[in-house]
Amino acid sequence: MKPLPASFLTGRPKIVGSPRLYDYYRSYPFSALRKARNMTAEGIVAELLASGLRGRGGASFPVGLKWQSVMQQAETVRYVVANGEEGEPGTYKDRVLLEQNPLAVIEALVIAGCTVKAERGYIYLNQNYRAIEKALLQLLQWLREEGRLRCVEGAGAFDIQVRRGRQRYISGEETALFRALEGRRAEPTGRPPYPTEQGLWGKPTVINNIETLASVSLIIERGDSWFAAIGPEHNHGPKLFSLSGDVARPDVIEADMSATLADLIGWAGGTVGTFKGAFVSGPSGRLFLPRDLSLPLTIQNGCGNGTVIVFNDTRCAVDLARQVTDFFHSEHCGQCLPGRESMKQAKALMDGLENQAALEPVLQHYQQLHAVLLNSSKCGLCSSGTGIVPALMQAFPADFARHLRHDCPICRAGAEVAA
Ligand SMILES: Cc1cc2nc3c(=O)[nH]c(=O)nc-3n(C[C@H](O)[C@H](O)[C@H](O)COP(=O)(O)O)c2cc1C
Ligand code: SF4
Repeated sequence: MKPLPASFLTGRPKIVGSPRLYDYYRSYPFSALRKARNMTAEGIVAELLASGLRGRGGASFPVGLKWQSVMQQAETVRYVVANGEEGEPGTYKDRVLLEQNPLAVIEALVIAGCTVKAERGYIYLNQNYRAIEKALLQLLQWLREEGRLRCVEGAGAFDIQVRRGRQRYISGEETALFRALEGRRAEPTGRPPYPTEQGLWGKPTVINNIETLASVSLIIERGDSWFAAIGPEHNHGPKLFSLSGDVARPDVIEADMSATLADLIGWAGGTVGTFKGAFVSGPSGRLFLPRDLSLPLTIQNGCGNGTVIVFNDTRCAVDLARQVTDFFHSEHCGQCLPGRESMKQAKALMDGLENQAALEPVLQHYQQLHAVLLNSSKCGLCSSGTGIVPALMQAFPADFARHLRHDCPICRAGAEVAA
């Protein structure tokens, strides 16, 4: 196991909810913002491009390209948005980051706003993050009073508002999030047009994840070469991982992306019991098995948003598959026909598993649903939600076979219901 690297994004005392919020504000150096004041917008984008920073919200899109695209739009009314919805099970790194260093995110949002010449920024927060919301509102008030919500002296008005989310996983999807900010139903509108062309209120919009924005502050403060020197090729910078499930010490771990799954589990105190598998990038991500423990958690290996849910050999794969299916079935918005119909069929397949004679037709049916969704659904929720269940069926056929025989010692309750 490699030594835990120094903490750049996290590792500070929790400031949200503490009486030291004003001391934190007063002693915050605003180094990135000061530096950005002496840079051109093109210079800032060039640094982001050279740093190799990719979005930390799941899709890993290059951040410099996104900002550049908004700058190139003819429309001059523009917005910048920080995505702090964090509605996927096991994902809590942005909460920890915001609790420890909210000014790094605000600073980057100001830099984003000035770079793309936006008139307003929004921080969209998970509904449960009340203490964070309160701290952000206070910090923004102090910043406003001191005229610090701008990165170029004398620049036009720019303000940041905080908005509470809808407590739905779907409202973290960028186009659904825009609709929520507009006061409408949080439903995806599909792409194209992309948010960089027509985002919030139909205007060009930069939307970035909370961790992505904190990484922008690091890059501007310390330079693109510093950032690019951390981590393997095409996987630059520090990355946050939310560890949960059957580990001794569930926690947010900051590491570079050469860290393997075994490293992360080791830093979290090891697996409780015997490692059976992990959902990397959450239930919408990829199934890692014991043979994958030595794989580095790079973007190419599916690290996504950095969520790692570990499960041990006391867990039944059928129960896990049911939990995943139930979650996506209850969270999908039902707006597009492929999503609606596929989620209905996926749930029926899992609910009726014990009535099937063999697993193979169930697996094939589930794989077909996933393939259809990949090609035709309006957003990524339903397609990503049906990816891991076939992987569980293939990896743990014995667990499924026991359910077909109505004979699962692990989750007897499930077998009794079907009997
Ligand atoms: C169903 C669904 C939920 C999502 N939830 C989040 C979220 O909570 N936070 C987030 O940053 N991105 C989330 N995303 C990804 C966003 O749509 C978007 O790609 C991201 O905010 C862009 O930021 P980034 O480029 O910095 O990663 C979600 C995507 C989908 C399909
Ligand atoms: S894919 Fe699912 S969540 Fe996305 S729009 Fe269609 S029904 Fe809604």
